[in-house]
Amino acid sequence: MCGIVGFIGNQDAYPILVKGLKRLEYRGYDSAGVAMIENGNFNLYKCKGKVADLENLVQKNDIDGHIGIGHTRWATHGVPNDVNAHPHISGDGNIVLIHNGIIENYASLKAALINQGHTFKSDTDTEVLVHFIEDICVKANVDLFEAVRMALGEVVGAYAIVLMDKRNPDRLICAKKSSPLVIGIGSDNEYFIASDATPFIEYTNNVVYLEDEEVALIDRTTGLKIVTIQNKQKTPYIQALELKLETIEKGGYDSFMLKEIHEQPRSIQDSIRGRLNLGLGMIKMSGIDRHEEKWVNVNRILIVACGTSWHAGLVAEYLFEEFARIPTEVEYASEFRYRDPIIQKGDIVIAISQSGETADTLAAIELAKEKGAYIFGVCNVVGSTISRATHSGAYTHAGPEIGVASTKAFTAQVTVLYQIALAVAHKRGTITNERLHRLMAELNSIPDKVEEVLKTNAQVETIAEIYKDHRNALYLGRGYSFPVALEGALKLKEISYIHAEGYPAAEMKHGPIALIDEEMPVFVIATQGHSYEKVVSNIQEVKARKGKIIAIVTAGDKTVKDLADHVIEIPKTDDSLVPIVSVIPLQLLAYHIAVMRGCNVDQPRNLAKSVTVE
Ligand code: G6P
Repeated sequence: MCGIVGFIGNQDAYPILVKGLKRLEYRGYDSAGVAMIENGNFNLYKCKGKVADLENLVQKNDIDGHIGIGHTRWATHGVPNDVNAHPHISGDGNIVLIHNGIIENYASLKAALINQGHTFKSDTDTEVLVHFIEDICVKANVDLFEAVRMALGEVVGAYAIVLMDKRNPDRLICAKKSSPLVIGIGSDNEYFIASDATPFIEYTNNVVYLEDEEVALIDRTTGLKIVTIQNKQKTPYIQALELKLETIEKGGYDSFMLKEIHEQPRSIQDSIRGRLNLGLGMIKMSGIDRHEEKWVNVNRILIVACGTSWHAGLVAEYLFEEFARIPTEVEYASEFRYRDPIIQKGDIVIAISQSGETADTLAAIELAKEKGAYIFGVCNVVGSTISRATHSGAYTHAGPEIGVASTKAFTAQVTVLYQIALAVAHKRGTITNERLHRLMAELNSIPDKVEEVLKTNAQVETIAEIYKDHRNALYLGRGYSFPVALEGALKLKEISYIHAEGYPAAEMKHGPIALIDEEMPVFVIATQGHSYEKVVSNIQEVKARKGKIIAIVTAGDKTVKDLADHVIEIPKTDDSLVPIVSVIPLQLLAYHIAVMRGCNVDQPRNLAKSVTVE
């Protein structure tokens, strides 16, 4: 959601900015813009559409300059159009600003500025902010850096911003609160700014993550200076990143999503590596081991997350209750934050987030912290805001996920949560050694089983061909497979725009059954295990009403094969591990249907990868 890039150095800024914006496309956006300073003037271009549209607009003889900023906008205030696109320019034409986030008090600021004679071209909160900063520069007679600091003291809301002043082409100024911003420090006094490190990883591994309410001045001669909005000087903390360029490229696949689906045997393995010790029969997770007492004596677990991460949380609820016997509740972060949740002594809050930047999840963490909870993060992006805001945590190690629809992050999240549940169960003595060892061995075999399931790709493609033009779909599962039904339905609606609902299979008869006719494909996770016979009965209920059944079954299954229109076989595994394996064909199915319908699977309409507004 909104991408930010900035560059100052010896190289031409424009190619670096455009390449950076393309790397951030995955975040989701609807318009794009760049501005460079050349001979004391701005070269500024912006338009509705893709970065490729921006490239077509830019005059190739008009793109010099060694300093510049670029932006992809995901509309909040004002429709996506050329005028509302960023950068926005001050009334006197000297300052440009790009912004990710929402200025909540923009209306009152705007009214005051209009009273003083300011006029506005766009509907955005961002244009108000750049006018407000300009106003402070003039009235308080301070430089831009100081004016930004003073202005942000008055601003309510979330922001990551970068500014340039055409009268000073050696300086970039940036600041953040609740939206991510990272500064890359290159050689030769070169600096990069971006929403995450992907735009500049081939130039530098040295980064400074800006903290909330910090304002940074990047000056080519004096270097990097950071102060807080309260005017406290901070020493920049430079970290070395381990991100590799090949992990953010398509590597021969048609889309990032397909690549990421196929990466899962490796990403699941990476989530296990160094943690699962079969020889010792132990799971080593430093975030748990260091706070063992809290986990052993935990009273209740509260899981907060959004989207696919929330589905991983639902799987975890079953895991924590079954193995560790800890009462567990899973909440949408957006709901949790806006009520007055009861947090008691001994509660542990687990926040799950691929990006580590989701605004609602972050706000839920802050609220839980205020109420004295101990917060554990399960994040994918190393160094992300949520990973830094939690007391401890475990990274999922899935590697960068670029496709907007989450795939490998989900299976990595469940893998990590699985290990947490087993580790805690072991510490609490709620699982026998025999069972623990058997489940650990089974988890260890999951990457191979996922590899096996990926071989169903061609068969899934054939099924996709049959159902690609349907307008609705139902996904059913019970127990551990209920969250998978939700996740399967989410994948289909996200990328193919087919209406899909996930339901606990038995709940079908309390409503969705009314929808079933020969036009309704029903995708059922019907693997052998705890509630197999019950699911078979649900399948019969669908068939009795002429619904089409596409079932995911355990290899060798006969009963469901006789009933279903199509079956996809997956290798046998423990009930508790079925979600990691059974979700794979559902990811492939959504992918193929979306491609057949001509949809952009990596950047579905209206969606953003990293939702940094509430
Ligand atoms: C967006 C993404 C989803 C993701 C959700 C939560 O909606 O499109 O794929 O599941 O945000 O994101 P998080 O980064 O917190 O896991």
